[in-house]
Amino acid sequence: THCILIGAPVDSGQQRPGCLMGPAAYRVAGIGRTLQSLGHGVEDRGDMTPGPLGCESTPNAAVRHLPETVAWVRTLAEAGERAMAEGMPIFLGGDHSLSLGSVAGIAAHAKAQGRPLFVLWLDAHTDIHSVATTESGNLHGTPIAYISGRPGFEAFPPFPAPVPEENICLFGIRSVDPAEHAALEASDITVNDMRVLDEFGFAVPMRAFLDKVRAANGMLHVSLDVDFLDPSVAPAVGTTVPGGATFREAHLVCELIHESGLMTSLDLVELNPFLDERGKTARMMVDLVGSLMGRKVFDRPTRSG
Ligand code: ARG
Ligand code: MN
Ligand code: MN
Ligand code: MN
Repeated sequence: THCILIGAPVDSGQQRPGCLMGPAAYRVAGIGRTLQSLGHGVEDRGDMTPGPLGCESTPNAAVRHLPETVAWVRTLAEAGERAMAEGMPIFLGGDHSLSLGSVAGIAAHAKAQGRPLFVLWLDAHTDIHSVATTESGNLHGTPIAYISGRPGFEAFPPFPAPVPEENICLFGIRSVDPAEHAALEASDITVNDMRVLDEFGFAVPMRAFLDKVRAANGMLHVSLDVDFLDPSVAPAVGTTVPGGATFREAHLVCELIHESGLMTSLDLVELNPFLDERGKTARMMVDLVGSLMGRKVFDRPTRSG
């Protein structure tokens, strides 16, 4: 695979400075070397910078950094769409608001190809606030609403091809705000919360989703939020929630995704290196990229696909 690294030092989607150091931390932790050691080509496009700020505004006074976020969306959507034509974009975040832009670019590409886009959201949070409903005002809590074409994003570029709700799978969920709960209950988005994963394990629901993508000949975007992981293995994130995926569960998920051969783009988000312990979280994330991109101990025939 030709891997295209896109640095997205976005820090405006939340309030704890540090995510802007994420791209540098992934490079120091060896993301390029890891991909090369697995036989992939690596092209690092460096760090993007947002274009000029507009004067977008919203009646919700809680919302922070709206013009910066819109500027990032334009820049990252363009970078993402261009990279999709040449290889597999890997966005090095940056907080989760970067996915407003990355998924916009990828959706535009999928639309032009006439292929359905599926989105796998590995996260403690459902990130389905709209600009109108967010109480924290942190726009990293909004991408799922934008990409599924929900209202409340008048300040943003129109989403190129909304991702159908049936094509979205939230996985690892354990923190949902009341407005998000209401939105999800009235939707066809699959929510694999920790209650589901505790009962059925990680493999069964993951295979069910991957089978759906394969059956539709879909493209698959994976958005990996550091807080999908348990804080004990990944402390470097502003929004820790106890009870997340263990080291082993997270690697299993990544191996299943790799074996499916379906992933066409990837976001790595919410790493805040300022909160890390001697690079532990950055290294964990790079290790998971290794599993996503084919590292395994033994080759075995795959059970599905
Ligand atoms: N739901 C909360 C909020 O809107 C938390 C969002 C956390 N999102 C994230 N990408 N870490 O503020
Ligand atoms: Mn998130
Ligand atoms: Mn999260
Ligand atoms: Mn409910």
